Amino acid sequence: MSWFSHFLKSSIGQKLIMSLTGLFLILFLVVHLIGNLQLLAEDGGESFNVYARFMTSNPLIKTISYGLYFFILLHTWQGIVLWFKNRAARGKEGYAVKKTRAVGTSAVLSSRMAWLGIIVFVFIVIHMVQFWLQMKLGNVQMATYPGHDGEYKDLFVMVIDAFKNPAFVIFYVICMYVIGLHLWHGFQSSFQTLGLNHKKYTPLIKGIGKVYSILIPAGFAIIPIIVYLFR
Ligand code: HEM
Repeated sequence: MSWFSHFLKSSIGQKLIMSLTGLFLILFLVVHLIGNLQLLAEDGGESFNVYARFMTSNPLIKTISYGLYFFILLHTWQGIVLWFKNRAARGKEGYAVKKTRAVGTSAVLSSRMAWLGIIVFVFIVIHMVQFWLQMKLGNVQMATYPGHDGEYKDLFVMVIDAFKNPAFVIFYVICMYVIGLHLWHGFQSSFQTLGLNHKKYTPLIKGIGKVYSILIPAGFAIIPIIVYLFR
């Protein structure tokens, strides 16, 4: 076992953790966005609330959710550790090397990943207190729908009410931009860490990463905007 803990403490082991947890979070965002887009259905919240109850009560998904919380913390912690390591290493290299480092959008973003990541983490904490904690502990009103058994927590109303506040809308849109920047570099970087370096596939992965890091944050950002303007 000692080789394993040794590996996890090594720079390559830590990068691998960043990469795998990052890919998991990338996948989570797709699922979360597809679910959240149901907020835009004009059905009084039925499809969103039915979906949310399934996602928060299904035992398998609940277990995956605990993994998700752990991965968010691990990804953030590991990122900070690597940031300090890199800073210490750069200190030894000296100014001349530092000056020639960042060239190109991804390279510039690479040196900003820790700051962008910290902003994303702060967003997730605020977001979870605002919605997730309120869902778990708050006084959320209940709803019933013909053809569906039992009562449903009306998370639809909870979200719609939150996005009636323009400050939240602006906050979400800015945070989605930051998430987009973090993903722009993070997506391709996680595949690179896994050693996927191929003449044909690497440009494809980079392309998919760019499309992903525009479409997913834009998809999230459009929800508060539409709710604020039209609901
Ligand atoms: C318009 C944008 C968003 C809306 C309306 C939204 C809405 C919600 C709601 C209602 C919940 C509680 C119900 C549930 O667990 O499904 C939730 C949970 C959560 N959200 Fe979001 N979300 C948005 C964007 C994001 C983004 C961009 C991230 C990550 C960067 C994120 C991360 C999370 C996490 C980690 C949870 C807890 C999930 C779980 O317990 O399984 N959300 N969100």
